[in-house]
Amino acid sequence: MPPVPHPPLAADPSPRTERSTRRPPDGVTLRTMPVPADLGAPDAWLLHGQVDTVNAVHLDAWGTLDRSRTVNETLAMLRQQSYADKIRIVAVDDRLPGPAEDPARVVGHATLNLPRQGSTDLGRLGLGVRPSHRRRGIGSALHDTVLDVLRTHGRSRVATTSHQRSEPTGSEPAVAAGTGSGRVHADDPSVRFAQHRGWSLEQVARLSVVRWGARCPDRWVEQLAALRSRMATDAPTGGVTLQADVWDAARVRADEHVQAARGVEQLVTAVEHVPTGTLVAFTILTAPTHTPQYAHQSETLVLREHRGHRLGLLVKTVNLQRLAEVHPAVRRVGTWNAEENAPMLAINTTLGFRPAGGGATWQVHV
Ligand SMILES: CC(C)(COP(=O)(O)OP(=O)(O)OC[C@H]1O[C@@H](n2cnc3c(N)ncnc32)[C@H](O)[C@@H]1OP(=O)(O)O)[C@@H](O)C(=O)NCCC(=O)NCCS
Repeated sequence: MPPVPHPPLAADPSPRTERSTRRPPDGVTLRTMPVPADLGAPDAWLLHGQVDTVNAVHLDAWGTLDRSRTVNETLAMLRQQSYADKIRIVAVDDRLPGPAEDPARVVGHATLNLPRQGSTDLGRLGLGVRPSHRRRGIGSALHDTVLDVLRTHGRSRVATTSHQRSEPTGSEPAVAAGTGSGRVHADDPSVRFAQHRGWSLEQVARLSVVRWGARCPDRWVEQLAALRSRMATDAPTGGVTLQADVWDAARVRADEHVQAARGVEQLVTAVEHVPTGTLVAFTILTAPTHTPQYAHQSETLVLREHRGHRLGLLVKTVNLQRLAEVHPAVRRVGTWNAEENAPMLAINTTLGFRPAGGGATWQVHV
C-alpha cells in the first residue's frame, strides 16, 4: 500500500544568533493576509491567491488535487478564531506581468495557527512556495518571518508537516524519526529545507495493512471491538437513530463462534497506524459455504480522524483481492449502501459494484 506519511517537524524558535531574518528576493513582498468580508471584497484577491498556492503545492507533492482547498472553506475556517489565532502571510511577486491585484501574484504562503488553549506554547505551521518560484529565497524569508511572529506571540515551539509519496527503501539516503520508526528521503527539498534551518524530525506517520480470517489475532481483538463499536454511531442510518452499541473482546469472540457455526467464513482487512499501534480502518467480507458463488461485503469503517486518505477503498480492494485468492469460485459480491452515504457509494462504484436492487428501512414509533 502507499504509505501516507505526515512527518511533523519541530523547531525551537529561540533567539537565533547565527543569522538574521532572511529578506525576500527583490520584487517579492511578504504581506499579512486580511480575512476578507466576502469572496468578492476588494482585498479577497490575496485569499484567492493563497488558496491557489496551497493547492499548487499540494498538487506538486501528491500529483492529485484530492485534498485541495476551496476559497469558501478557507474563508469559513478563517472566520472561526475562538480556539486559535490564525495568521496568514503571503509572498506577493510584484514584478509579474498583469493586473496589480491578480491572485497569480501570490507565489508563497505561511499559515500559522496559534492555539488559544491546550498547547499554548506551540504554533502549527504550513509553508509552501509555488514550484515555479522555488529556490529564490522566498521559502526562507517566509520561514524566518514566521519564527519572528511566533516569538512575538510568546510561542516557544512550532510544528509542521512535510509530505512524501513513498518511504525511502533501505538503500536510499534517509533521515529517521526521533521515535525510531519511519524515515523520510534525505535529498527531498522539504527535508533539506527543514534540516538546514534547525528542525528535528519527530515522527513519521505510517499505515500498514493487516489481515486475518476466522479468528482475530489476540493483539488486535480489543481494537477491532472498538472499531465495531463505532459502526453504530459513525455510519449514516437515516432516521433510525442508534445508541452507542459497545463491543468488547468477548463479543468479538462470540461473533466469531456464531459465524463459524453458521458456516460463514469471515475475511477481515484492517489498517494499522504504525506509530501508535492502533487500528484505524477495517472491512469484513463474509463467504457462506452454502453459496460458493456469492460473498457479502459487510461492515467497513474508517475512523473520522483518518478519513481522506482513501483507506476505505484500500481495505476493500485488499480484501476483495484476498477473496479472489481463497474463494476462486465466487462470481458475485453483494453489499448494501445507504443512498445518502456518498463516500461509500463512490468507493463501491469505483470497485465496480453496480445497482442490483434495493432495500428500504422503515420505522414506526409504537
Ligand atoms: C520547502 C519550500 C517551502 C522551500 O521554498 P523555496 O522558496 O524553494 O525556499 P528557498 O528558496 O528559500 O530555499 C530553498 C533552497 O534553495 C536555496 N536557494 C535559495 N535561493 C537560491 C538561489 N538563488 N540559487 C540557488 N539556490 C538557492 C536555499 O539555500 C535553500 O537550500 P536548502 O533548502 O538546502 O537550505 C518549498 O520547496 C515547498 O513549498 N515545498 C513543499 C512544501 C513543504 O515542504 N513545506 C515545508 C515543510 S518543512
